Amino acid sequence: MDSIELQSSHVEYRPLTLQDKSTYFPTILTLVHAESQQPQSLLKCWSPSFYEQFWTSDGSILGALIGETLVGFALLGFSALIPAIWVSYLDDLGIRREQCGACRSIIIAASYRRNAIGSALFQFHMGYAQAQGLKHLFGTAHPDNTGSLRLFQNGGFSLVGQIDAHESMGPRILLHKSL
Ligand SMILES: CC(C)(COP(=O)(O)OP(=O)(O)OC[C@H]1O[C@@H](n2cnc3c(N)ncnc32)[C@H](O)[C@@H]1OP(=O)(O)O)[C@@H](O)C(=O)NCCC(=O)NCCS
Repeated sequence: MDSIELQSSHVEYRPLTLQDKSTYFPTILTLVHAESQQPQSLLKCWSPSFYEQFWTSDGSILGALIGETLVGFALLGFSALIPAIWVSYLDDLGIRREQCGACRSIIIAASYRRNAIGSALFQFHMGYAQAQGLKHLFGTAHPDNTGSLRLFQNGGFSLVGQIDAHESMGPRILLHKSL
């Protein structure tokens, strides 16, 4: 696939609202489907109902737009959408679940990658989470997903541990950031 070089000023980062759903939910599902067809993909792709949850008050969808075109998205899960894997960790640290958010997925359209859009969207995602009053963010990545790990590392996340398998996703690096 051809890649596209961009000026970062052309890209707008913003939360997608319910008014955006009819326009952009199909694009999100298309991006997920395209990623699921990549043999080398290290992203767990879910059924549409998973992504639907983030249009409710349980989550947020942050979009990267060029004009009217959605070229990437990141999912922020609030308390109800924090994976079970984190529960004992939160208990151990005495962190209240309602203070926490989870970075559940980020996808940039393949032809727009390596233009720093993922980095800028991830920064926007963290700032948005903080503005919502969250104090902690959690995320996981496949150990071989260098792009994903760079986003977390550059975003100031710390390594918490590694597990062999999680929700049929294979091995996962566990990451945490205090906001
Ligand atoms: C991961 C992803 C979101 C990165 O988006 P992007 O717009 O290409 O990211 P950027 O251009 O901002 O690059 C971010 C960092 O990752 C590095 N990177 C990105 N893709 C990489 C790759 N395939 N291999 C190695 N490093 C990579 C960049 O060099 C950059 O690091 P640096 O700033 O320290 O130099 C994108 O590759 C993607 O959508 N992948 C498929 C879905 C996925 O795996 N999502 C993450 C798991 S939730």
